[in-house]
Amino acid sequence: MKKYLIFTLLIVGCLNGFSQKIEGLALTPPMGWNSWNTFATNIDEDLIKGIADAMVESGLRDAGYVYLVLDDGWMAMERDAQGRLYGDPKKFPSGMEALGEYIHSKGLKFGIYNCAGSKTCGGYPGSRGHEYMDAQSYADWGVDFLKYDWCNTENLNAKGAYQTMRDALYATGRPIVFSICEWGDNKPWEWGTEMGHLWRVSGDIVNCWDCEYGHGSWSSWGLWKVINMRKDIRKYAGPGHWNDLDMMELGNEFTDAENRSHLAMWSMLASPLIMGNDIRTMSEETRITLTNKEVVAVSQDALGIQGFRFLNENNIEIWIKPLANDEWAIVFVNMNDEPVELNFNWQKHDMGDDLNQKFAHLDRTTYQLRDLYNHKDLGNTSVPLRAKIDVHDVLMLRLKK
Ligand code: GLA
Repeated sequence: MKKYLIFTLLIVGCLNGFSQKIEGLALTPPMGWNSWNTFATNIDEDLIKGIADAMVESGLRDAGYVYLVLDDGWMAMERDAQGRLYGDPKKFPSGMEALGEYIHSKGLKFGIYNCAGSKTCGGYPGSRGHEYMDAQSYADWGVDFLKYDWCNTENLNAKGAYQTMRDALYATGRPIVFSICEWGDNKPWEWGTEMGHLWRVSGDIVNCWDCEYGHGSWSSWGLWKVINMRKDIRKYAGPGHWNDLDMMELGNEFTDAENRSHLAMWSMLASPLIMGNDIRTMSEETRITLTNKEVVAVSQDALGIQGFRFLNENNIEIWIKPLANDEWAIVFVNMNDEPVELNFNWQKHDMGDDLNQKFAHLDRTTYQLRDLYNHKDLGNTSVPLRAKIDVHDVLMLRLKK
């Protein structure tokens, strides 16, 4: 009887062993760069190496942006004779393993893309039916991050499809961050924690402040459309499992003010910070925004709580986020088409987060104010805060006792 029990436990243990995600890999929202928003499928070895160099030289890597992710279009149009994927030999003549080595030699991590369907969205070979083989190729090439998309999936069950790939990645024994990209269609926040480390909550982002572009059966969404799309899912985010608001459009034809607001909101919402601009040619102002360590620290806060809308006063969006050590982050985003004068009386606002049982007690606790974009102290919460905020700009503060 005892022998039988031990045997059963061993079998169950083995089966479980092959059906886990790798824990501890994305304890704070992953940061990096992805090729899609600017280059679509027009990617090649020179471009990717140039991006890797720029990530180092611009200070982005040292600010925390370490994943360099090749999106759709990296592979050959057909699998090889053994059914394996390989890099398009015209675009990546040195092969994917050599590219991975280059990326790693720069102190960066290597990310790659595929799709749960028969083909990727761009028409390249998808992983359906090849999951274990593909996962092994990625592991052999030194891949650290897989973005897994949802085109051409016909009747596939989303949870099952992501589970298969998760198990395939796990079976390789290589720690690979698993990025679920099924656009929020099957509520991935309800099952994604078990499967991967981040999941997209919307269709594709586009570089406008608050627009929707329809393409027939799908739309692309401006910043504030993505932000406002999912009101009730913040409870699903936390260390190791994040709501992904999509790659940023920061630096892609936004004003400097809008760029600042973009990074501030993605940080407040604990979204992965994956850049999507051409960082080889970005302006100095964009570089300064992206590498602002005080802002990035809000994104990377150890508690991993997703912030939320606190108020909208005079068309100023006010969002708050509890941070470690009983600190808070707060942003004021001017949604108006003209500058506004902010006059915010801390004492009159009962700032708290019921979900996480965090309360600022502004009526009886005085906090010091730190302006994160301008790197200066702004007094404390005992007196009302007055400030001018430009069109679509943000005032982002950290409150500390
Ligand atoms: C989908 C994804 C995008 C991008 C493209 C690539 O649209 O949502 O982020 O990966 O596919 O074809």
